[in-house]
Amino acid sequence: MTGPVSASQAQTGWEAEADLVVVGSGVAGLTAALRAMRLGLRVLVVTKGGIGDGNTRWAQGGVAVVLGDSVAPDDSVAAHVADTVAAGAGLCDTVAARSVIGAGPEAVGLLRREGARFDGDASGRLARTREGGHGALRVIHAGGDATGAEVQRCLVAAANDHTLPVLEHHVAVDAVTTVTGEVCGLRVLAPDATPGLVRTRAVLLATGGLGQLYQVTSNPELATGDGLALALRAGASAADVEFVQFHPTVLYTPGARGRCPLVTEAVRGEGAVLVDGAGKRIMPGVHPLADLAPRDVVSAAITRRLATAPGGVDDHVFLDATGIAGFARRFPTVRAACEAVGVDPAREAIPVAPAAHFACGGVVTDAHGRTDVTGLYAAGEVARTGLHGANRLASNSLLEGLVLGRRAAEAVRADLAGARRAVSSPPADVPAPVAPVAQRPALQRLMSRFAGIGRDAEGLAVAGSVLDVSTVPTPLWTVEAVEDAALTLVARALLAAAAARTESRGCHVRTDHPERDERRWRRSQSVRLNPSGQPVLAHSILEGVA
Ligand code: SIN
Repeated sequence: MTGPVSASQAQTGWEAEADLVVVGSGVAGLTAALRAMRLGLRVLVVTKGGIGDGNTRWAQGGVAVVLGDSVAPDDSVAAHVADTVAAGAGLCDTVAARSVIGAGPEAVGLLRREGARFDGDASGRLARTREGGHGALRVIHAGGDATGAEVQRCLVAAANDHTLPVLEHHVAVDAVTTVTGEVCGLRVLAPDATPGLVRTRAVLLATGGLGQLYQVTSNPELATGDGLALALRAGASAADVEFVQFHPTVLYTPGARGRCPLVTEAVRGEGAVLVDGAGKRIMPGVHPLADLAPRDVVSAAITRRLATAPGGVDDHVFLDATGIAGFARRFPTVRAACEAVGVDPAREAIPVAPAAHFACGGVVTDAHGRTDVTGLYAAGEVARTGLHGANRLASNSLLEGLVLGRRAAEAVRADLAGARRAVSSPPADVPAPVAPVAQRPALQRLMSRFAGIGRDAEGLAVAGSVLDVSTVPTPLWTVEAVEDAALTLVARALLAAAAARTESRGCHVRTDHPERDERRWRRSQSVRLNPSGQPVLAHSILEGVA
């Protein structure tokens, strides 16, 4: 570790001190850490992998942003907000959506000044594409379909230039709080599992998502819901956790498990269409935008088509992109993934299937990343600002990470200056927390079978009961235990919220309640832990949904 953070080795472990600990090094985490450092805070980044790992680098499509130039002269922030709210199926917080989307152009400008290079068109303007749910050409991209990799490259380069202190391959275990519930430290495991303590007045969670709850996902192995679990255990509330977005098109290979390569929605934006095993198109007649309908609609339509496949292929469909000229140049990442499994997208349809992709809900924050625990902040996929509602609009997540990362750093700076809180001393011998842990493969099987696209009361109850009887109290002494405890807790919260929501809306598809129930359910549910650590639903209705 380098930089202005004091660290010492103690016999029982190690200690460090910082004004702000950022957990995670994706777009939200590094944006926040760099901003906080420039504001004069002593920052420490703690990340489970290397600084360049995590979800951001896998993002393909792009960043949705209204630039107000001649590529899309009729587009506007209001239109982008309207598309976001339409995709969000009645649960977006419109105030948050206006606030985040309105800040998009400035955030993208700052990233470009930091050195990010987006693709240009023949006239030298930024190239734009479309993705599902967007009514205009407003998605900028880099390296064709390697937008996340370019954003991550740029932020890592800036972090290195500024010698941002980063603890790589360290895992955050738990927030330490004072008797009055304010954050005063963070427990961390080093790569060799040595426990450490960072004394700090502010922790910003930017840990990404929870795709590893399911057997097949577009998310990397690191996406185990750690930040959400840590926040719940610290006393924060979460909301909208039942809304897990399944991406309609990850590359299908028989029996594949874990992270599978994404086939970006921008491929459909450039004209590809979904067909079933008999070569029949899937989306016409389902939604006016057909193959470019919002993602929840497309994934659900594929799932329905597979369920009714007449004795034919029933676990994947196909994406016909053979009409796209210059596919390899425009989509080099997808092309390479296809090539690795012997598929040539220029000549044959790509086998695809839906897979867990994005947590639309998360730790409840305001539009500046503040949670309801003093000193605890969240930004990026782990957070629930209200931007995404019941289904995120494509390519709004990198935008949210850029905007909220910066804002959260500014909120920390303002709060620390205002509170004049000294660094409190966490108790010296805090025992390792103990949490219920389920076996990961069994948990992933349960969630995929009973809590994917198409859920019902019986299946959700079965999954909950199996979890109840199969978890084992486990001290969080290893990375695996921390991750499995997080997956177990997040699964319980998700199952509770999904069982309670007796309707279908956005990414939450109930086969026993197929209709949307506007009268009872046009509201978000929040979840927190009761004193014995069980997730319970709060009956409060979160304001501002539209
Ligand atoms: C994609 O490129 O299809 C994924 C982008 C996103 O999830 O927003």
